[in-house]
Amino acid sequence: MARLALPALLCSLALRLAAGIPVADQLASTRNHAAAAGLSITSNYHPLPRIQRPPGLSRTFDVLRQQQRQKHRLLASEADDDDPAVGVDHLRAELHQVEYIMQVGIGAGEPYYMIPDTGSSDTWVVREGYTCLDPYYGQEVAPEVCDFGPLFRGDFPGGRIEDQNLNISYLSGDYLNGDMGFGDITVANITVPSQQFALVDVAAFGGDGVSSGILGLGLRGLTAAFTGNDPSADGLDNLVNYAPLVETMGASGAAAPVLGFAMSRDEARSWISFGGVPPVAAGEYTSVPIQKGTLTTGKTDYFYYSIGIDAVTWTGGNATNLPSMLVDSGTTINLFPREVAAAINAAYDPPGTQEDSMVWSVACDAVPPELDVVIGGKPVRTHPSSMILPETAAEGSNRCLSGIGAGQPGSYILGDTFMQEIVAVFDVAEDRMELKFAQRTD
Ligand SMILES: *[C@@H]1O[C@H](CO)[C@@H](O)[C@H](O)[C@H]1NC(C)=O
Ligand SMILES: *[C@@H]1O[C@H](CO)[C@@H](O)[C@H](O)[C@H]1NC(C)=O
Ligand SMILES: *[C@@H]1O[C@H](CO)[C@@H](O)[C@H](O)[C@H]1NC(C)=O
Repeated sequence: MARLALPALLCSLALRLAAGIPVADQLASTRNHAAAAGLSITSNYHPLPRIQRPPGLSRTFDVLRQQQRQKHRLLASEADDDDPAVGVDHLRAELHQVEYIMQVGIGAGEPYYMIPDTGSSDTWVVREGYTCLDPYYGQEVAPEVCDFGPLFRGDFPGGRIEDQNLNISYLSGDYLNGDMGFGDITVANITVPSQQFALVDVAAFGGDGVSSGILGLGLRGLTAAFTGNDPSADGLDNLVNYAPLVETMGASGAAAPVLGFAMSRDEARSWISFGGVPPVAAGEYTSVPIQKGTLTTGKTDYFYYSIGIDAVTWTGGNATNLPSMLVDSGTTINLFPREVAAAINAAYDPPGTQEDSMVWSVACDAVPPELDVVIGGKPVRTHPSSMILPETAAEGSNRCLSGIGAGQPGSYILGDTFMQEIVAVFDVAEDRMELKFAQRTD
């Protein structure tokens, strides 16, 4: 299927924005469960429409696959039985990401669609007159290649920071350069005052035709501003971390530094909230601390939303002693250690087929195993509808992408497969710094 046409999409988004309150009943128990976890239900929530990204560049998932394939090509002469680089063609597939987008206000102007991303911390929007680069060869290409939505006009509403630049590369291979400055940023009717953000002038990026940038919802350690105005001189020596949106939201008193996600494959049931949890019915929460990371320089800080996992259990098996995993709203499938991914995919009926070192295909009508990720001593059930991605089947094919793939050390990810049909809360108040998860009951 071709990408959604822009006018059609905007129209359906407009309808969605007018849609009503997510839930009215069951709220007493939902509120009690939230209160027990130190959370409150907020009216500052916003719908999260889903949009398909075309094949090509995209964040974590695509990139890692790209790297794997390149590696495979380089090693092509060596036998590598468990990494067959064949077969992906019957998955229309493989590179189709589905991502969630939302409207974000910058200054007093019209809002932009942006991708809320817990896997990065810089908020940026692309500026009129920007240069689109081919990410592999670095030469200038037509802006249609980057395929952004509406471009930002003018300058920083709160002034530019003269001696800083944004220089960010995503795991996907996308990269950007731009100026840094300030502006009031409005999300779900909360205005975060004087937030540092970037206007991007150089982009090697695979867009979706609708969104104009990324809303970086990660933590301070991941921010990527550098002193000076020469990107080629940027490195760890001139890196200056700054307060990302969620931190400023708390520090300014605009709202509690809490993000809530109630994501669903059904976009009429998908919400993001700020300052509390969205009003969708949910059960008891389990909590787990966010882990700090350490740079090669020895500096310790919060970077990703990295958490410890007690166990993963599925119909017929389980795994313990797992490495930490990152909770990333910007990655479509879960990426487990390879043996775990292989065992879970073998538990589909009929069993899945490994397509390459990262992904498995399964019959679109297979029966998936019941999967629990045990966090903070409690199982968090993955919804069966997230275990098989029907939109990835090639025309006429009954092969679909499995929701369970394999990651690499340092980038094991709980993506949308995990986050759908639960309430996922990122509570980054200084005295909390924890993630909380509850099963949705609506
Ligand atoms: C947004 O917030 C203001 C107060 O901060 C309130 O008056 C207004 O009703 C809110 N709008 C919506 C759509 O919730
Ligand atoms: C900064 O940007 C330049 C130009 O895009 C790039 O060559 C360089 O690798 C980037 N440096 C860092 C630290 O991201
Ligand atoms: C995990 O698997 C082992 C055998 O592999 C089994 O003995 C154990 O009971 C399982 N634990 C759970 C919680 O399923």
